[in-house]
Amino acid sequence: MLGVCYYPEHWPEAWWPDDALRMRDMGISFVRIGEFAWSKLEPKRGVYEWGWLDRAIEVLGKAGLKVVLGTPTATPPKWLMDEYPEIAPVDEQGNTRGFGSRRHYTFSSEVYHAESARIVEMLAKRYGNNPAIAGWQTDNEYGCHLTVLSWGKQDLNAFQNYLRKTYQTTDQLNEAWGNVFWSMDVNSFQEISLPILTVTETNPAARLDFWRFQSGQVVAYDKMQCDVIRKHSPGRFITHNFMGFFNEFDHWKLAENLDIASWDSYPVGFTQQFPFSDEEHVKWATTAHPDIASFHHDLYRGVGGGRFWVMEQQPGPVNWAPWNPVPKPGMIRLWTWEALAHGAEVVSYFRWRQAPFAQEQMHAGLNMPGLSELSVGGQEATAVGVELKQLGTLPAFQQAPVAIVYDYEASWITRIQPQGQDFRYHELVFRWYEAVRRLGLDVDFVPPGHDLKNYKLVLVPSLPLVSDQALEAFKRAEAIIIYGPRTGSKTRNFAIPEGLAPGPLRNLLGLRVTQVSSLPPGVVEQVDGKISGTAERWREYVETNSKVLARFENNDAALIQNNNHIYLSCWPDETLLHATMELLVKKTKLNITKLPPHIRLRKRGDLTFVFNYGTKSWAIPKGKKLVMGGPKVPPQGLTIWRN
Ligand code: GAL
Repeated sequence: MLGVCYYPEHWPEAWWPDDALRMRDMGISFVRIGEFAWSKLEPKRGVYEWGWLDRAIEVLGKAGLKVVLGTPTATPPKWLMDEYPEIAPVDEQGNTRGFGSRRHYTFSSEVYHAESARIVEMLAKRYGNNPAIAGWQTDNEYGCHLTVLSWGKQDLNAFQNYLRKTYQTTDQLNEAWGNVFWSMDVNSFQEISLPILTVTETNPAARLDFWRFQSGQVVAYDKMQCDVIRKHSPGRFITHNFMGFFNEFDHWKLAENLDIASWDSYPVGFTQQFPFSDEEHVKWATTAHPDIASFHHDLYRGVGGGRFWVMEQQPGPVNWAPWNPVPKPGMIRLWTWEALAHGAEVVSYFRWRQAPFAQEQMHAGLNMPGLSELSVGGQEATAVGVELKQLGTLPAFQQAPVAIVYDYEASWITRIQPQGQDFRYHELVFRWYEAVRRLGLDVDFVPPGHDLKNYKLVLVPSLPLVSDQALEAFKRAEAIIIYGPRTGSKTRNFAIPEGLAPGPLRNLLGLRVTQVSSLPPGVVEQVDGKISGTAERWREYVETNSKVLARFENNDAALIQNNNHIYLSCWPDETLLHATMELLVKKTKLNITKLPPHIRLRKRGDLTFVFNYGTKSWAIPKGKKLVMGGPKVPPQGLTIWRN
């Protein structure tokens, strides 16, 4: 269940056999290689150097390791960029993004599609049936360094074609976008420009279509790679390594072409980047917030249709966050187990050995810079290897009682038109997730429209665009469903729905939203009733004949119930959010364990895992059959019991 990311091309060949044996001895079985190696495989057009990769795969295979081969398309080499400068992406100010790092291509470059297909096909033909190759990773972290959206000439051409297909006539497009406003009507598709560099705000409908289009470009590019690999490498899985808190393309759609989803877990780095309070930033600086990794494990398990890996696990300090503290001792082990508890099939560390050169020389590895000597993270990974052997095969995974409906368009819509600058979709979803996790409940993520049967509680933190499919799934569900602010507030063309929000959910909820108010920092509104707390950032004014469970001070409805459908008309503070979740969970009759902020539980089959992210130990409930760890879980410790 362990893996590692390895760059044989960074080290003398004489080191490879020893590296491979040391990997195997620490319980590693998968090695990902190759994802940035284009210039080493094809140093000049048509000149191929397969020898080193042949030998690297052979060395790894001989040691009994299985290889995940990355396609090298995140790093087109210099000669290719010189030959076709138009491959380079263009930023929002119209500047070409240069060579000298990575991801310097636009998904709309037809030349780059062809060149990628060519190199992927050569690799797939050469290694597709190699017994050491277990699977493939396409490219690397689509969209990293803000590379989903590109704003160049080719992007424009492809966008115009997309619009032609979508709308057929400019009359229909003008109507859909509301171009009559500010005389934005166009007479031909060639007249359409990219929604940038305007005097003031661009039309949100154009912007949303541009985002949909670019998301589709990423999906199409990945599908091209998957098709090539499948043709020449039968029986091998294909994955892609997704990122943390990254919404810029529709991952549900992209994953339809994959066998397994994977993601890159850097909990301390992500904690730095997340808009936590100052106090939280300090508190979780070296352990990471307890839900940061598990949020993504659950999300990507969903995206992968039940199957996921951690392709890159933080092994120590990273180099790319504003500050990069050393994780607390024990955290590398804890994160690994947390991933496995959440159903990860493999946890693969990034990277085997810290590179003493180039951009990531300050980024830890399992071995110290340029040495064959384990780092602290390497020692912890070794300990996990031993523990895994003792524990044996982990039980199969089961559906959680709670589902969160996660929607990529929701994040685009609220970013295009935030209305209040701190209305951040991913933050809202994260906080709702945290609230149910604090009750000891396990969570699945599902796309809108997914069958909600068998869930007891469904959270829809915000879903501005409710599709027919999503509506049907909500209607059929027997779960308690709670919808958050802005749900049903937009049509597909980015307009306010006829009859007002929540649009298609009006009957199900028995309410309509007549006004929305974004609240500047410090402006809050008290909510009381069956629960209490405050609204911050956002509140709505609602007309309803349904049951009102809590009200704002002026008597307006804040929490509204119509049968199993419940609407929360504000951004809740922590108190209000946690009280709301507790109230709803009571209605579902699920068993809860109220947890302190630093403790989390996770079930996998008949095992329950307890994780301690804090500074104080925690006593588990009495009478449990212990499988690992003791009845008192120490800080950064782990206990497992069998139910
Ligand atoms: C990931 C990336 C890796 C490496 C790592 C450093 O985003 O996939 O190639 O850069 O971050 O943390």
